[in-house]
Amino acid sequence: MGDSKYIHTEKTDWVALVRIVRHEILNALNLELVSELAEELLRLDGENDVRCIVLTGGQKAFAAGADISEMAGSTAIEMKMRNQFRVWDSIRLVRKPIIAAVNGFALGGGCELAMTCDMIVAGEDAKFGQPEVKLGVMPGAGGTQRLTRLIGKPRALELLLTGRRISADEAYRLGLVNRVVPSEDCVNEAVMLASEIAKQAPCAVQLIKEAANKALDADLQTGMEFERNAFYLLFATEDKSEGMRAFLEKRKPSFHGK
Ligand code: CAA
Repeated sequence: MGDSKYIHTEKTDWVALVRIVRHEILNALNLELVSELAEELLRLDGENDVRCIVLTGGQKAFAAGADISEMAGSTAIEMKMRNQFRVWDSIRLVRKPIIAAVNGFALGGGCELAMTCDMIVAGEDAKFGQPEVKLGVMPGAGGTQRLTRLIGKPRALELLLTGRRISADEAYRLGLVNRVVPSEDCVNEAVMLASEIAKQAPCAVQLIKEAANKALDADLQTGMEFERNAFYLLFATEDKSEGMRAFLEKRKPSFHGK
């Protein structure tokens, strides 16, 4: 259990469930909250009894974006010097898979935060969007890059340039979310998916996540080379011996992350 002002964590078998709790203001992401969140995710990344992380918000909002009241009076130079996105970017350093369980609004920075996660399970009432253009600005936490990579330029631009909100079903059709489930089941579904991942060999899981990220960040040849070397590296693990032996002995493997 790790609780701070805005972030509450519970652990079940191998899975950490992290909740953003600033519900009175729809989980608007101020600097302190994002710092606490990044710190917690990085802490859990180093915990031996955690193999997969679920990140969720409240029923009405996963997060309604960066805290507008915190930014409204800022100048360009203050924003630049504050360098707030350095903290957001540190979430990318988490090696374990993170699943976002999204109910309600995931707007602006909230949508960007969900996209920073590796998978998204959405409740049927979830609403996604990048409304920054309506505030006279643009996404700053990766929205133009991640949304474009995930759903393609024409469809991403339509959402980015109009600020239109989309439903969970539309987000599913566009390939932004993995699955849509009844809202009351959203967190449980995400935890079940996380538990399934947590049963796999931890070293393989981490390297597969890293390789999939290379597919977005690097050219094909670089990604292929990374994949091949990671594949060979896994032959050094006890879990590889256990996984293959268990297959040949027709039993379930028991992985220990070594
Ligand atoms: N920042 C600060 N406060 C916010 C907020 C935000 N992003 N989103 C909601 N709130 C506050 C509201 O001001 C309100 O506070 P009070 O009760 O003190 O008035 C409270 O949360 C409840 O919100 P609403 O009364 O507006 O609730 P609603 O159900 O009528 O509307 C909503 C919900 C459509 C999400 C609406 O709140 C809204 O449009 N929020 C802003 C969404 C937005 O523009 N997000 C992008 C922010 S910029 C960004 O994220 C940049 C980036 O790339 C990082």
